[in-house]
Amino acid sequence: MANIQFQGVQRVFKQNDKEFVALKDIDLVVQDREFVAIVGPSGCGKTTCMRMAAGLEHPTGGEVRVDNEIVTGPGPDRAVVFQAFALFPWKTVWDNIEFGLQSLDVDPQEAKRRIEQYIELMGLQGYEQAYPHQLSGGMQQRVAIARAYVLDPKVLLMDEPFGALDAQTRVVMQEELVRLARKNPRTVLFITHAVEEAVYLADRIVVMTRRPGTIREIIDVKSIREAEGWDAHKRIEDVMDLPSFVHLRTHVWKLLREQQGDDTH
Ligand SMILES: Nc1ncnc2c1ncn2[C@@H]1O[C@H](COP(=O)(O)OP(=O)(O)OP(=O)(O)O)[C@@H](O)[C@H]1O
Ligand SMILES: [Mg+2]
Repeated sequence: MANIQFQGVQRVFKQNDKEFVALKDIDLVVQDREFVAIVGPSGCGKTTCMRMAAGLEHPTGGEVRVDNEIVTGPGPDRAVVFQAFALFPWKTVWDNIEFGLQSLDVDPQEAKRRIEQYIELMGLQGYEQAYPHQLSGGMQQRVAIARAYVLDPKVLLMDEPFGALDAQTRVVMQEELVRLARKNPRTVLFITHAVEEAVYLADRIVVMTRRPGTIREIIDVKSIREAEGWDAHKRIEDVMDLPSFVHLRTHVWKLLREQQGDDTH
């Protein structure tokens, strides 16, 4: 069991000696093995939510719990893929992926097997001994994803993990993530700016308002996906033109548009 609970979460920050409310009234339960995507305008507090679940940031009001325990700091049950890749520049691809495993009690043979598995899955064979600066942005991001998956965490926290990828690589990674998520479901909190990506990947989509960030609406994608049989399709291009998919995408877009405060359209 690994759920993530936000209960009445508020976060106040200080900027230039003035306090402002970045997040308020956040009530959300990401159920065990549920994939929840968060979308919302820039600066609405998405990364802050994720950092609180990761234990890197703390609420100024309310509580964040993982597995029913109040989060006090980072833990091996939660792996994070950051908005920026955050690889160790002085470590090779292999050593970057191996890094987190070293602090876990994983049998060395099993560790080696997992690293090899994800290197292959992410198409990084032949680059094991390369350093991050020798890789393209997309490859660096695949190393960052492999590094999180290899830990086999109960909870995956992903902050715009595909944001820096080119469109083709992005689609491959999305399909890979769907495949992994269906094969070996984890509890995932996934932040994205890409509406289509959220509809394709998530069981539920949380749409946030602009600052102070609150939850505008939570959309149940899973029941629609199951009712419409999208799961039978594998590729994003096979589902993105279905009326049910288009309908959801348009709905999320409208909610986001509302947040722009743009009255001219
Ligand atoms: N450590 C901090 N100190 C002060 N203000 C902060 C801090 N971290 C975040 N903020 C502010 O809190 C707000 C929310 O930031 P956050 O990074 O969570 O937004 P976001 O939704 O992830 O945005 P983006 O989509 O651009 O990544 C912003 O106004 C940001 O400037
Ligand atoms: Mg962010």
